[in-house]
Amino acid sequence: MWSSNVTTGSELSLAGISAKQLANDFGTPTFFIDEADFFAQARVWDKALRDAFGANAGTVYYASKAFICTELARWIQDIGIGIDVSTGGEMAVALAGGIDPAKIEVHGNNKSAAEIEKAVTVGAKLIVLDSLYEIERVALAAAKAGKVQPVLLRITPGIQAHTHESIATAHEDVKFGFSIASGAAWTAINAVRTHPSLELRGVHAHIGSQIFGHKSFEILTERLIQLLALYRDEFNQELPELDLGGGYGIAYLPGDETVNPADAMNALAAAVTKNCELHKLQIPKISIEPGRAIVGPTMFTLYEVGTVKDVTLENGSHRRYISVDGGMSDNIRPSLYGAEYTTILANRTSTAASVSSRLVGKHCETGDIVIREIDLPDDIVPGDLLAVPATGAYGRSMASNYNHVPRPPVVAVKDGKARVIVRRETEADLLRLDI
Ligand code: LLP
Repeated sequence: MWSSNVTTGSELSLAGISAKQLANDFGTPTFFIDEADFFAQARVWDKALRDAFGANAGTVYYASKAFICTELARWIQDIGIGIDVSTGGEMAVALAGGIDPAKIEVHGNNKSAAEIEKAVTVGAKLIVLDSLYEIERVALAAAKAGKVQPVLLRITPGIQAHTHESIATAHEDVKFGFSIASGAAWTAINAVRTHPSLELRGVHAHIGSQIFGHKSFEILTERLIQLLALYRDEFNQELPELDLGGGYGIAYLPGDETVNPADAMNALAAAVTKNCELHKLQIPKISIEPGRAIVGPTMFTLYEVGTVKDVTLENGSHRRYISVDGGMSDNIRPSLYGAEYTTILANRTSTAASVSSRLVGKHCETGDIVIREIDLPDDIVPGDLLAVPATGAYGRSMASNYNHVPRPPVVAVKDGKARVIVRRETEADLLRLDI
């Protein structure tokens, strides 16, 4: 939940800097990222993949949709893992951060002609193909550039992963990929093979996000390796790469489980080995795409309390509303997915009794809730600081300017030093595009 260099006890601090100091220096709301912990998380996943698969380890592609900025892209390049981008914008930031195109995997179910051309010309390592139209478009772009573009096919394996409907991606009724069950995957394989400008390297699937347990990944592995075996039977040739996507879950609340990278990779390796033996296939290079599991726990959001209001409910009971200076514009996940978060008083300790409270934002909407129900000290007053952990994934990256609220900055903290890596938006930024 909290990153490894956060201490909570009395006043919250990150890498030796107190919450009060951080708020004083950078304002609120602000996302603080534990830089050392980000490096550690990325390396733990990379090591887990390598330890579990040895010579058959492919690449950890950090899913940049979870959070990306130029400085973070530099970190990814330093760490040496790959990156998954799903739009031209994410690719632009990856390139601005100096990520080697040979480490970039390009996703997206509706890549524009410009995005495809850019990916091909910069020399993206892999483009993941998602529709028959796209097969033609990428083949044409590669032919025009006089290149042979390595590609994967995104496969829909027909798995109902246990997560929120909006973030499950591998059942049949989705916009992503080519279904195995319907025969679309096979049609796509044949289509790719007609193009000399495409090199089919293997298949990919992503079953969804915030997934726990090994079961869905085991079924996924079984189905994709069966497809690789069919390919070998038909074409007398083995595809060398298998990308099993991301989706590994993290803890948001005290007591929540979190996926252990070594356990997850060992389970995946066991499933891959078993299925490859069954079909007498060589083990392909195995890649994964964790986003949330790397960046999620490395950030927290610091808010300042603006108002506290006790509301009398119809049944005569009271609800305390504590309003902070951000809300659904910096964390849409509670309203969009019913996601749950926790918070703690970050600027002082309190011995006051706790009161059932609702943490809300400053937006003009009842659904602007950060935490629906949480026990917080009775003596919280305007000016207090509240820290919400595990906001690194899909927090800043899905932030909006709803109500023309400027988006918060991201501040990296390491060894007692803090620096802005994404600055706070200003009112001038909000006016920048208006004609
Ligand atoms: N690979 C592909 C192809 C993906 O579509 C995704 C996420 C990932 C990897 C990374 O998944 P992760 O390891 O981060 O779970 N906005 C939602 C999550 C949407 C995820 C979309 N795709 C949320 O806030 O929960």
